[in-house]
Amino acid sequence: MILVTGGAGYIGSHSAKALGRAGYRVVVFDNLSAGHREAALGAQLVEGDVRDVGAVRRAIRESGADAVMHFAAWLDVAASVRDPVGYYRNNLVGALAILEAMAAEACRQFVFSSSCAVYGEPVELPLPETHPTAPVNAYGQTKLAVEQALPHFERAYGIRSVSLRYFNAAGADPDGELGEDHSPEFHVIPRALAAAQGGAPFEIFGEDYPTRDGTCLRDYVHVTDLADAHVRAVGHLQDGAASTTYNVGTERPSSVRDVLAAVERVVGRRVPTKTALRRPGDPAALFASSARIRENLGWVPARPGLETIVADAWRWHEAHPRGFAMAARRSGR
Ligand code: NAD
Ligand code: UFG
Repeated sequence: MILVTGGAGYIGSHSAKALGRAGYRVVVFDNLSAGHREAALGAQLVEGDVRDVGAVRRAIRESGADAVMHFAAWLDVAASVRDPVGYYRNNLVGALAILEAMAAEACRQFVFSSSCAVYGEPVELPLPETHPTAPVNAYGQTKLAVEQALPHFERAYGIRSVSLRYFNAAGADPDGELGEDHSPEFHVIPRALAAAQGGAPFEIFGEDYPTRDGTCLRDYVHVTDLADAHVRAVGHLQDGAASTTYNVGTERPSSVRDVLAAVERVVGRRVPTKTALRRPGDPAALFASSARIRENLGWVPARPGLETIVADAWRWHEAHPRGFAMAARRSGR
C-alpha cells in the first residue's frame, strides 16, 4: 500500500494512476489547496495537511502503507522568492512531519518529489546528479534541505528513499482523464495554450539570457514518463535497493521560443507575445543528464518530444477549458 501525498495534484494524480495500473494499492492524502478531488480518480482520498503529524500517522496506520510518495508541496519559484516563510513551512516542515510520522509508524520507504531547482545556476550542462547544489530560490532550497535530511532519517529510523529531481513536468494523461489544472497557472505550456486560445498575450520572461535565442532553456518531461519513474523508484525500494537520487528529464533543452513554436504548430494559431522582465529566481538553462536512472532503473521516456508533450496538454485543455471544474459539474458537485 502506498500513501501518495499530493495525489490530487498534477504529477501526483498521474503517478497514482500509474501505480494502480502497476498493481499497487494507493491512498491519496491531500489538503486540496491546489489539488482536485476528481483527480484522485476514485482512489481513497484522505483530506488532511501533511504538516499534521497525527493525521499523517493515522493515514499510514489505517491504510497499512509501507511506502510514502511525497508530492505535496508548493512549487511557484517566483512566489518562493517573495514568500520564503510559506515555502519553508509547507515544503520543509511538511516533509519533516511526514518523515516523523513514518518513523513513528515504522513505514520505511520514501519517494520524494525533488527538483532540478536544487542545482541553481549550472556550471556544467547537461546536469549530472553530481553537479554542485546551490539553489537560487527558496523553493529549490527547501527541496535540497529535505534531500539533505534523508540520510539522517535513514541512519536513525531505517527509512530508505529515492529523491527524483524532476525537470519541467508537462503534458497530460494520453487517456484524457487527467491534466494540469493550477490556479493561478504559472507554467509556460498551459499559459501559452491559453494565449493561443485568445487569452492575454503571452509574456516572455526575459529575452536577454545567454542562450541561442535569448530565452530560458528547460527540459520538458512528459508527466506520464515522470509517473513511470515513480513506479520504478518504489519498485526499486521494495526490492531492497539502497537510497539514491535521480534526475528525471529528457536531456533535450527547449527554449521558451521553442515552446511557443510547438504550441503554434499544435493549435494551428499564432501565440500573441510581449517581452517582459526576467522572472526572479530563473536560471538561464536547466537540462538533465538522465544516464543514472536510465542505467539503474531502465527508465526511458516514452513521450519525449516537445510537440507530443504540447499536443497531449492541448487535448486536455481543449476538452477541459475549466479544468477539473468540468468533471465536478458532470458528476453533480
Ligand atoms: P500540484 O500543485 O499540482 O500538486 C501538489 C498537491 O499537493 C496539490 O494537490 C495540493 O493540494 C497538495 N498540497 C500542497 N500542500 C499540501 C499540504 N500542506 N498538505 C497536503 N496537501 C498539500 O503540483 P505538481 O506540479 O503536481 O508538483 C508535485 C510535486 O512535484 C511538488 O512537490 C513539486 O515541488 C514537484 N516538482 C514539480 C515540478 C513541475 O514542473 N510541476 C518540477 C519539479 C518538481
Ligand atoms: N515563462 C515565460 N512566461 C510565462 C511562464 C514561464 O517566459 O508566462 C518561462 C520561465 O521564465 C521559464 C520557462 O518559461 O524560463 C519555464 O517556466 P515554468 O514556470 O513553466 O517552469 P519553471 O522552470 O520555472 O519551474 C518548473 C516547476 C518547478 C521546478 C522547475 C524546474 O514549477 O517546480 O520547473 O525547472 F523546480
